[in-house]
Amino acid sequence: MTVSIGSRLVSVGTALPDDVLSNADFERMMDTSDEWILSRTGIKERRVGGTTTGLATDAARAALERSGVAPDAIDLVVVATQTPDDLCPSTAAGVQHALGLTCGAFDLNAACAGFSYAVVTVHAMLRSGAIGAAIVVGVDRMTAATNYEDRGTAILFGDGAGAVVMVADDDGDRGVVAWDMGTDGAHPDILSSPIKDGRITGVEMDGKALFKLMVRYAADSARAAVAKAGVGFDDLSAVLAHQANQRILDAVADRLDVPREKFVSVIASTGNTSAASVPLALEAAVLDGRVAPGDLVLLAGFGGGLSWACTVAVWG
Ligand code: COA
Repeated sequence: MTVSIGSRLVSVGTALPDDVLSNADFERMMDTSDEWILSRTGIKERRVGGTTTGLATDAARAALERSGVAPDAIDLVVVATQTPDDLCPSTAAGVQHALGLTCGAFDLNAACAGFSYAVVTVHAMLRSGAIGAAIVVGVDRMTAATNYEDRGTAILFGDGAGAVVMVADDDGDRGVVAWDMGTDGAHPDILSSPIKDGRITGVEMDGKALFKLMVRYAADSARAAVAKAGVGFDDLSAVLAHQANQRILDAVADRLDVPREKFVSVIASTGNTSAASVPLALEAAVLDGRVAPGDLVLLAGFGGGLSWACTVAVWG
């Protein structure tokens, strides 16, 4: 048996719904303003609509087409989501079928950190030799779990999907170098999406408390992953962090003493898309040339749980 010693992220693809929900739309729906939303969050508009399975399939297809990996070489589909269309069958099963794959498929939920958790999970499976190639998707239809009576949370969320293809690789020059992950389950009161009487009633959040804890956990995890990789933040071409809001991105960058520009931001046009946000940021950076094959990047997911996961990888 050949045992691979590593895994490589070879391609990225994304999908966003067509419909736009702008800050001006919110001004018509509730007592708020473009100025308040933009200054507190950096968000101008979000994309809304579609289905979780449809968005996930479109992103996975785009990543697969760009990867050069044959569909019959894909051994696994992992979908990270907290907003599946149905609890069963899994979103991953729908993606597997829609793409005509014959491999295994399962969902994973680590809220906004889900995509980053899935990358670490699949890396471990590739590294062990259990599988040879996989599609990892982060997708959320957060607007399906948003309470539009609550102006403190409603303005944050959008819908979308992003995916990467990962392959086993013992090259040593490319791929996942190190990772860190963690959870602090002591704060369900700070961020939750509860099911009450069988219904999802919408995200409930203590924004200020969440902000403080999340910045600390995200920065500590980023520092740990970079240290395990034996590199410095100066060696990174870009940080692809969860797009919770612009102030969190800036605060994490400041805490790490990293230039804010190194943190790729797509939040202005997507809002907080939960598990989709890291691959959405990654694709933006790949398309505009900030991340090229051979570049060292940090993927950093964090959110409900509270959960976080960071991966240092050489892209491409
Ligand atoms: N428009 C206008 N005013 C609003 C508003 C809105 N959409 N939402 C809340 N307000 C009001 C509040 O009612 C409050 O008014 P008051 O002072 O009269 O009581 C005031 O603005 C301040 O509210 P507060 O919640 O303290 O605002 P904030 O400065 O903490 O900003 C967040 C709110 C949500 C933007 C901020 O806490 C945050 O970014 N937290 C992290 C959230 C996050 O990223 N969650 C996802 C994690 S994965």
